[in-house]
Amino acid sequence: MINWGMIGAMILPNVGGWAGALTMTGEVRSPNGTAWYETIKKPSWNPPNWVFGPAWTALYTGMGYASYKVFEDCGGFTDDAVLPLTLFGGQLILNWTWTPVFFKFHQIGLALLHMLALDAAAAVCTVSFFNVNKKTLYFMAPYLGWLTFATCLNFAIWQLNKDAKKTN
Ligand SMILES: *[C@@H]1O[C@H](CO)[C@@H](O)[C@H](O)[C@H]1NC(C)=O
Ligand SMILES: *[C@@H]1O[C@H](CO)[C@@H](O)[C@H](O)[C@H]1NC(C)=O
Repeated sequence: MINWGMIGAMILPNVGGWAGALTMTGEVRSPNGTAWYETIKKPSWNPPNWVFGPAWTALYTGMGYASYKVFEDCGGFTDDAVLPLTLFGGQLILNWTWTPVFFKFHQIGLALLHMLALDAAAAVCTVSFFNVNKKTLYFMAPYLGWLTFATCLNFAIWQLNKDAKKTN
């Protein structure tokens, strides 16, 4: 039997990710190389753009699966499930809303603060998931690792561009 609840839980984080990606339209790449993200300074270790799509999809799907495991182990939306799933939803919203702050509004410094809040929320969520089901760590740990990397990248881009004035 197909477990639609599980499939839905794995797709859900991606949906907001796709919606967020729409706010990047025209900001990342343009035929003449004048898109905002092409013109700002980036560190030499900035990964190629194609890395982000597969990484985001894999991590979103994994965290969605972890959230389903927690839901299942708690016996549905029970009292035990409220805290971990609320923490999950909170960090997910912080995750989705970072994209417009950075790519649409070009607020690199604000995006960094946003990202630090996301890091904290994701860490707390990971702990609460772990308390329900230890195996969820296999799915949440890579996400935390990626967030650490993304935070370093946001920090480096902020450092490199904070003095170059307002090109937006
Ligand atoms: C570059 O292309 C974009 C659309 O892709 C256009 O809006 C913009 O005016 C172009 N800029 C230059 C300098 O040609
Ligand atoms: C949001 O989550 C995706 C998938 O886990 C991740 O790749 C991305 O870096 C996160 N967003 C931010 C702003 O870090």
